[in-house]
Amino acid sequence: MSRVSESAHLELEVVVARVVQESATVVSLTLADPDGGPLPEWHPGSHIDLVLTDDLVRPYSLCGIASEPTWRVGVLREPSSRGGSVFVHDRVREGDRITVRGPRNNFPLVDAPSYLFVAGGIGVTPMLAMLREVHARGASWRFLYGGRTRDGMAFVDEVVEHGDGVVLWPEDTHGFLPLREEIEALAPEAAVYCCGPEPLIAAVEAVCAGLGRTPPYVERFAPKVLDEAQVSGERSFTVVLESTGARYEVPVGRTIIEVFEDNGIYTDSSCQEGVCGTCEKRVVSGTIDHRDSLLSDAEKAANEFMMICVSRGTSDEVVLDM
Ligand code: FES
Repeated sequence: MSRVSESAHLELEVVVARVVQESATVVSLTLADPDGGPLPEWHPGSHIDLVLTDDLVRPYSLCGIASEPTWRVGVLREPSSRGGSVFVHDRVREGDRITVRGPRNNFPLVDAPSYLFVAGGIGVTPMLAMLREVHARGASWRFLYGGRTRDGMAFVDEVVEHGDGVVLWPEDTHGFLPLREEIEALAPEAAVYCCGPEPLIAAVEAVCAGLGRTPPYVERFAPKVLDEAQVSGERSFTVVLESTGARYEVPVGRTIIEVFEDNGIYTDSSCQEGVCGTCEKRVVSGTIDHRDSLLSDAEKAANEFMMICVSRGTSDEVVLDM
């Protein structure tokens, strides 16, 4: 399955209609068509890329109401990140115009009779849109929302208005989220969704595995840490464009995208960390060392797609559908 949605390559200019401080560390941007028309349709789980500067393109989940003509993203200020969130907090103001790409959906909402959503911190953003959708459908759901402190948790009012199935769990007063109890209580066919920091995602995956459940649907905002063997086993390889037969050597320590840029080949990318799916390419032949945090184990084993910002060839040659 390619994760590229129908609007993945759409690039458009939007105006920042509203900036709201949603918590101590999160602002939301409401984005609108400068001419007042509706922005393209999206579905829960979708994200867009904000093109903040030529070198600063960052993905953010859409967290507004899908039926509205505007889009909304929530951005956590992360001073230790690579600059996107600080740029949004410090530089983006109402009335600014921003180029955006997408929407793209790597995290679609599946049909299920019931759902458990586990949101940690800013991971609430895609889950809020999902909560609205399943609540409107009349499906059964639980929504666990954890954060370090209650004051730091964004969009709380919009979450709790959905009723008793919402469990707010600030860590400083409640401790760790009661994952095992919540997941154990689920019907076997319930879908489990999780978005948040890596330890939370890993814990949900571990509980599901331990209970013999289907793996949860997860979205990571930060890349998984590579294991030592993967890093030390890195080797050079040749990438080939199927359309032209052009060949490029990818040395140790360089990515396919970097080699393409060196050679004047433009291809869409955003996070550069293997989490957003923007750079996904179809693999025609060759075997891949998948280093992304997006493809499932089954998708990696299928060897059909790769994220060229991080993943590498393990065969001498990798032919891409380009
Ligand atoms: Fe985000 Fe490659 S640019 S996965």
